[in-house]
Amino acid sequence: MRLDPHSFADAGQPVADRLVWQARVDFAGRTLHAEAVLRLQQAAEAGPLDLDTRDLHIDAVTNEADGAALPFELGDPEPILGQRLRINVPAGCQAVRVRYRTAPHATALQWLEPAQTGGGAAPFLYTQCQPIHARSVVPLQDTPRTRLRFEATLAAPPGLEVLMAAEALGNGRFQLEQPIAPYLFAFAVGRLGARELGPRSRVWAESPLLDQAAWEFADTEQVLAAGEALFGPYDWQRYDLLVLPPSFPYGGMENPRLTFLTPSVLAGDRSLVAVIAHELAHSWTGNLISNANAEHFWLNEGGATYAERRIVEAIWGTETAALEWALGRRKLDRAVERLAEEGRPRLSRLRTELAGIDPDDAYTIVPYEKGALLLRALEEAVGRPVFDAFIAAYIDRFRFGVLTTEEFVDFLGQHLDRAAIGRVGLERWLYEPGVPADAPQARSARLEAIAALGGRPPADDQAAAWSATEWQLYIESIETPAPSALLEGLDERFKLTQRENYDILEQWLVVGIDSGYAPAVARVQDVLGRIGRMKYLRPWYRALAQRAETRGVADSLFERYAATYHPIARQVVADVLARSTEGA
Ligand code: BES
Ligand code: ZN
Repeated sequence: MRLDPHSFADAGQPVADRLVWQARVDFAGRTLHAEAVLRLQQAAEAGPLDLDTRDLHIDAVTNEADGAALPFELGDPEPILGQRLRINVPAGCQAVRVRYRTAPHATALQWLEPAQTGGGAAPFLYTQCQPIHARSVVPLQDTPRTRLRFEATLAAPPGLEVLMAAEALGNGRFQLEQPIAPYLFAFAVGRLGARELGPRSRVWAESPLLDQAAWEFADTEQVLAAGEALFGPYDWQRYDLLVLPPSFPYGGMENPRLTFLTPSVLAGDRSLVAVIAHELAHSWTGNLISNANAEHFWLNEGGATYAERRIVEAIWGTETAALEWALGRRKLDRAVERLAEEGRPRLSRLRTELAGIDPDDAYTIVPYEKGALLLRALEEAVGRPVFDAFIAAYIDRFRFGVLTTEEFVDFLGQHLDRAAIGRVGLERWLYEPGVPADAPQARSARLEAIAALGGRPPADDQAAAWSATEWQLYIESIETPAPSALLEGLDERFKLTQRENYDILEQWLVVGIDSGYAPAVARVQDVLGRIGRMKYLRPWYRALAQRAETRGVADSLFERYAATYHPIARQVVADVLARSTEGA
């Protein structure tokens, strides 16, 4: 029986919960030459052991105990799942050894030429395994239901730093004693330096960005302390950061002990540190307690978004948190609307059904914002002290475990007042598209001040005090197409087109493109070549492609830059362009 719609792992078979991995990084051949020893939880009975792989070339499979060759069979490639590697293990087998190599186009790996890095002098390699790409790097049971401990040795060319989301033992050796979901397997190789941030944190980056990164993330220890005060002890000892080259397709990725970050969070004003709060929050929700599979992704991301806002509130106050809730809600409403327009309303349920669907295609902001909003609705229904006690009990009960939506609902029912839960109306949140009409609303004086403008330009003194979040809320409120005079006037006074805060640019350039504002179209051509974060690529390409005047610009930019994007990002942009053709 399948454990997970996105894995070949079989519930009736032995569980491989320990990995000893050795790999040599070959930049010229864009290949990892590797060996994986997978240790079974219990000595096996004779029979099949099914592993997930994608584009791996298997050289040999042996019994670890005596080196005897084991019969294996690699299934036909399936578009989403990859290939099943079926190994026939003899009775009593405790570990199998697989010698293999990865493909140059392995979906978890991005191999960068020196010119694609910040430093410009050395090549770079990094992984992105969530949701189901670990199988393109290691043959394993690639489902969060199988938690894995590992030891690894990674050999790279001299002069390059090897980092792994694990405990460093020196000489390219690593280990992780905490069992993790396979999607958290992560490493990076490049010319990197480090700066200390606090007693248990440092930041790694390519040298041109190092000082800026150390400045931007100076509050990391404070964020950690706030997380611990809210959710209990941090269980992973260190919390380090790694700033990746610009093509990194996400804002951040919560790899254990070492969060991976896009360089676009280096806004120069510490305005985007909520990303750190978010990725750190996964140390509890996501990494300590993981979604059982991608259909319950909202447990990871809604949990982390809720926790992120609690951390923001604890450090920066309720007004700041309220503004983030408000912005999240605006984005959620837009996403729900768009999914309906695209004929995919079922993706705006929290509990999704993804058999036959690539989780990368199902990715939206809904699990983040709707999930967080549901947790907040529950908090409001029972009161914060009761909800905080519930969170503590939840973490205690499920730590180092996995969870489905249904198991979460059961646990809620055991711990919270049923009448209160009834008033929240879980069924609507989980199984129906859209956002319930009685969802909690963010309230703040600063928010009302923005709303009162109704999209008209702010006074100088009002705008001077705005945070990046307030700018985004304001720009969100401008109706499009907006008159050029309005956009020109704003640009003259506030230099919005020239901002380096990409979250502000995200909104501003979309408003500009939708309004046929030439400076925005010019600027987007420049930034689309400088950043590969999907959060920005999606709306910018979509906006360009939706207007007849700029459709050609979208196509030619994609042609020019596609090769610089991460393979997942490339696919996402291709889909965005294809979808807007259908809609036209
Ligand atoms: N875990 C996600 C990134 C992810 C999700 C990678 C699904 C692959 C598949 C990470 O925690 C995340 O949510 N990052 C956000 C930033 C955050 C501040 C909302 C992002 O990348 O934008
Ligand atoms: Zn997240």
